[in-house]
Amino acid sequence: MKKRIYTLSVILLIMLVNNGITQSNQNIITIESAPLYKNTKAPIEERVEDLLKRMTVEEKIEQLSGGNIIYNIAGITGLVSGSSGFNTPDNERLGIPGLKFTDGPRGVRIGNSTCFAVSESRAASFNTKLESKIGYAMGLEAAANGHNCLLAPCINVVRHPGWGRAQESYGEDTYLLGEMGKAFIEGAQKTVMANAKHYAVNNIENTRQFVNVIIDERTLREVYLPHFEKAVNSKVASVMSSYNRVNGLYVSENEHLLKDILKEDWGFDGFVVSDWFAFKIRPLRALNAGLDVEMPYGISYGPPLDIAKRIGIIPMESLDDSVKRVLRQKFRFGLFDGKVNVDKNIYKTEEHKNLALESSREGIVLLKNKNNLLPLSKNISTIAMFGDAANEARLGDNGSSSVTPDYAVTPYEGIKNKFNGHIILANNNDTTGAVSKADISIIVVGLTGQDEGEFLGLTGGDRTNLNLHREDEDLIKNVCKSANKCIVVMEAGSAIVVEPWIDDVDALIMAWYPGQEGGNAIADVLFGDYNPSGKLPITFGKSKDQYPPLLTNRLRVTYDYYHGYKYFEKNNVEPRYPFGFGLSYTTFEYSNIDIKNNGDEINVTFDIKNTGSREGAEVPQIYVGFENSKIDRPIKELKGFTKINLLPNESKNITIPIRIKDLEYFDTTKNTWALEDIQYNIYVASSYKNIRLKGTLNLD
Ligand code: BGC
Repeated sequence: MKKRIYTLSVILLIMLVNNGITQSNQNIITIESAPLYKNTKAPIEERVEDLLKRMTVEEKIEQLSGGNIIYNIAGITGLVSGSSGFNTPDNERLGIPGLKFTDGPRGVRIGNSTCFAVSESRAASFNTKLESKIGYAMGLEAAANGHNCLLAPCINVVRHPGWGRAQESYGEDTYLLGEMGKAFIEGAQKTVMANAKHYAVNNIENTRQFVNVIIDERTLREVYLPHFEKAVNSKVASVMSSYNRVNGLYVSENEHLLKDILKEDWGFDGFVVSDWFAFKIRPLRALNAGLDVEMPYGISYGPPLDIAKRIGIIPMESLDDSVKRVLRQKFRFGLFDGKVNVDKNIYKTEEHKNLALESSREGIVLLKNKNNLLPLSKNISTIAMFGDAANEARLGDNGSSSVTPDYAVTPYEGIKNKFNGHIILANNNDTTGAVSKADISIIVVGLTGQDEGEFLGLTGGDRTNLNLHREDEDLIKNVCKSANKCIVVMEAGSAIVVEPWIDDVDALIMAWYPGQEGGNAIADVLFGDYNPSGKLPITFGKSKDQYPPLLTNRLRVTYDYYHGYKYFEKNNVEPRYPFGFGLSYTTFEYSNIDIKNNGDEINVTFDIKNTGSREGAEVPQIYVGFENSKIDRPIKELKGFTKINLLPNESKNITIPIRIKDLEYFDTTKNTWALEDIQYNIYVASSYKNIRLKGTLNLD
C-alpha cells in the first residue's frame, strides 16, 4: 500500500512539473496536458472562454488599458514621437501578449515607413483595389515594426473642407467613405488588426475634446454612421471612440452609440478603444456603456477599476464582455500563436515604393486644362518653377498621422528626373526674369501641417479660411499675368477656394499631400506619362459661404442632414468644381443603360468607350434620386462606382451593383430602416453634375 502511494505521488509530481497546474473555482487541483486556450486548433470562442476563466479580476482589468502612467516613462517619451507607449501590458503568468498599437493612415508612424498619399488623395483615386493594396502594405510595415494593431482607417465624414483632419479621411460622401474604409481594412487585416476611427461624429478639430454635437437620429444613422457599419461588416477588429460628445454624452460613455448601435444592431464583436487620453470619462459608466480599452494609460480604467473591484462594485458582466472582446481579436490575429515574421526593411522594397507612386498618381485631379495645354511636351526648352512648395516635399499634418519616410521627392526633383531642358527654380520675390525666359511657368503652392491637421495647440487645427495664403495668391497672379503659359499645382488636404485667381491660369492640378513619390507623380501627370484619373471626393465651392458653417471653436453645435454636394444641390448652389469631377487627357462616351432588379441588388449595366487618342481610366458613378418621396431626401446620392481603364477606341460593358438596402431611409417613427415604394431615378454620371445616362426603377 505504502509503495502504491509513493509511486502515485511521484507520478503526480512529474505531471505537475511537466504540464502545469490549474486551480478550478471549487479549489480542486486539476491537472491538464496543455490549456485549451493554447490549442491553436480549438475554436476561438472556446479558447476565449477557457482563458477568461483562468484570469483573476485584476488580470482582466489589466487587459483593458495601456498600463500605469507613473511607471511608464518610456511610454511618455514615446508619446511625443509616437515610437512607443502605445501598448497594453503582456500578461506573463498566462502568456497573454499585449496590444501594440501604431498610427496610420498615410503610412505607419513608426520607423522610416513608406509615406503614401494622404487618404483624401486616395479617395480621389476611387480605386478600392488600390486602397486594399495600400492597407495590406501598411499592415505589413506595422507588423515589421512589432505592432499588431494599426490605428487606421480614419473614416470620419468631411462635413466641411475646413476640418483640420480632412486629409486623413476619404471625403464628404458616406458611400465613398464606406467603400474605401472597407478596402483598407480588408488589406490591412491580412496581417494586423485595423481600427476604424473616430466613432463617431468627429468632424471638428479645435474643440474635439469637448464639443457636444447635437444630431437627430436620422442624420446620425444615414449620414454619419453607415460607413462605420460597413467597417464592422468587413470584420474590423477594433473601433476607436472619439473624444467629442454626441447629444450630451461623451462617446466613450455613450451606450446608444457603443452598445445599441455598434455592438447590438451591427453585431460588432471586436473591441472599442478610446481615443488617446479620454480621461474625462467616468470608469463604470464607460465600462457599462461599452468602452473596452482605455489608451494610452489606465487613468479612468486601471487603478479606478481596481478600487471598484476592492469595494465590490465592479460590473463583472461588462468587465468580462470587454476582456472577451480583446482576447477574441488576439486569438484571431494569431498573437498567441507565434509572431508574424515580416522583414524590417519591407518599406525599402520596390513594390512599396511603386505603390506609393501609384497612390500619388491616381489621386491627382486635373481641374483645369485650357486649350489642352497639358500634357507638356518634353521638347520645350525652359520651365520656370515658383512657389514655396516647388522644392519642398509636403507630406501632410504634424500630428498622429505623420510618417518619416527614407526620402521624399519634391515637385522640382520629379520634373528634373524626366525633363532634359532647362529648369529655373525661381525666387518668389523676383519673378520677372524667370517668367520672361520660360516657355512654361509652374507654380507649386498649398498648405502645410501648420495650416491644417490634428489640433496640437500651436500647429494644425481647423481652417476657417479656405483660400490659399494671400502671398501665394499674389504670386499666382503675378506670374500668370506675364507668363507665356502658367500652371498651378496645389498641395493641401482638402478643398481650396480658387476664385481669386482661377481665370488667370491655364491649367490647375490638385495633388493633395502626395506622399514620398509625390514629385515623380506630379511630373508624370504634367508630361503625360500618366493620364490623370482622379475625381474630387469633396466639393470645391466658390467661397466658404457656399458651405454650411464649419462651427469650429464651439462647445455645442448642431449638425443638419445636409452637407457636401447634397447640400449644394438641395440649395441650388453652383460649386466651382463638383464632387466626382476630374479631367483626363482622353474622352469617354457612355451608352446603352440597362437596369435589372435582382431582388437584393439592382444591376446597372452600360457601355463605356474611350473616344480619345490616349489610354486612360474613368470613374463611372451611379447616383440615385427619389421621385415623389414622402420624406425630405437628397436630390440624388452616390450608391455605386467603379474605375475602369480603357485603351484608345476600346469599349467595355460595365455592370455596377447597387444594394436595395442602400435605398432605405431611417424611419424615426418606427426606429428602423424602411424602403419607400416610389420610383428611383438611376443616373450614370462622371460627376454629380455631369449625368451621362439616366434610367428608372420601380421596385415591384
Ligand atoms: C488621435 C488618434 C490617434 C491617437 C494615437 C489621437 O490624438 O486622435 O487618431 O490614433 O492620438 O496617436
